[in-house]
Amino acid sequence: MDFGFATYRHLPDQKATYIIDIYVVPKLRRSGLAKELADQIAIEAKSVGHTKLMGSVVPSAKNSTASVSILIAYGMTLKSSTNDFIVFEKELV
Ligand SMILES: CC(C)(COP(=O)(O)OP(=O)(O)OC[C@H]1O[C@@H](n2cnc3c(N)ncnc32)[C@H](O)[C@@H]1OP(=O)(O)O)[C@@H](O)C(=O)NCCC(=O)NCCS
Repeated sequence: MDFGFATYRHLPDQKATYIIDIYVVPKLRRSGLAKELADQIAIEAKSVGHTKLMGSVVPSAKNSTASVSILIAYGMTLKSSTNDFIVFEKELV
């Protein structure tokens, strides 16, 4: 897509789809495009029978605080953490 992309992986054993990365070109940010990409992934996740979306943040990475804000704004909640890796999840309804 011209405006950005999203990558994800299905995790059948957890009935979850993990959003690996979302990118939107700088000039089009804050207009809801990342949310639209996540919504498309949620539709795909539900179509394969999954009940959760997952995302993650590496605290030591650049802009990690913004990444946490974005995931929480999308309705994700904390699931778990290990050293320098926080996992978020959202139930699909
Ligand atoms: C993160 C990124 C994908 C967001 O794309 P976007 O299209 O601007 O996001 P949206 O417009 O859908 O934002 C949805 C909500 O997320 C939150 N949000 C988005 N960008 C934010 C930022 N930089 N800081 C804090 N909150 C942010 C806001 O609540 C926003 O809603 P609002 O604009 O009504 O306040 C984009 O900034 C990007 O490509 N960044 C570089 C790559 C990156 O960091 N990816 C990892 C994301 S986990």
